[in-house]
Amino acid sequence: MEELSKLAESSIGCMLCPLAEQGRTQVVFGHGNPRADIMFIGEGPGSNEDKQGIPFVGAAGKLLTQLLETIGLEREDVYITNIVKCRPPGNRDPKPEEIETCTNRYLFSQMDLIGPKVIATLGRFASSVILEMKNVAMGGIHGRKFTKGTHLVVPIYHPAAALHSRANMKPLTEDFENLRRYVEEKAGEEQRVLAEAVQIETHHVFDEKAEQMGLF
Ligand code: URA
Repeated sequence: MEELSKLAESSIGCMLCPLAEQGRTQVVFGHGNPRADIMFIGEGPGSNEDKQGIPFVGAAGKLLTQLLETIGLEREDVYITNIVKCRPPGNRDPKPEEIETCTNRYLFSQMDLIGPKVIATLGRFASSVILEMKNVAMGGIHGRKFTKGTHLVVPIYHPAAALHSRANMKPLTEDFENLRRYVEEKAGEEQRVLAEAVQIETHHVFDEKAEQMGLF
């Protein structure tokens, strides 16, 4: 994953948007498996993430790790990142120009370079940015499949929502189960396409050979 490492390296000390000079400690580029089947996208680093340089290491991150375990995965199996890579001061929402700069420079390339089977957007904010939808209500869209370019995107509740209200725990757990199912479905589809391509190629070689031998 040469390209992804290069992109990560290029983000160190990024000065492209105002967040660079609003108290961030470091750029939090992303963490995990560069060949992950599932990529998670949150909103932006909080204070723990800003200190450690790793996304989702606070309370919401611990819950994310536990939810991954319920579907048989560890943090190192998936890739985790955020819409913006620097902590907004006082945990305010990232501004449109910060989002535009950061997604165009880093996030969209991360999505393409990793090419996960499923991209899970965590919560209202990340979901509305990625799906380009205004006034997103998670209750209506969580766990459903959307497409963005070549990517399969599934908005799910933010783990922090389940920390605020236990009632969100059940839909969040179901969303993780859905993610697991979508990955399996996509893997099945990819296998079928591959098997068909091999079959077509085999027939092609066979027909050519037969023709050469004057059998047609
Ligand atoms: N930690 C992150 O890295 N992102 C969030 O959206 C929340 C917590």
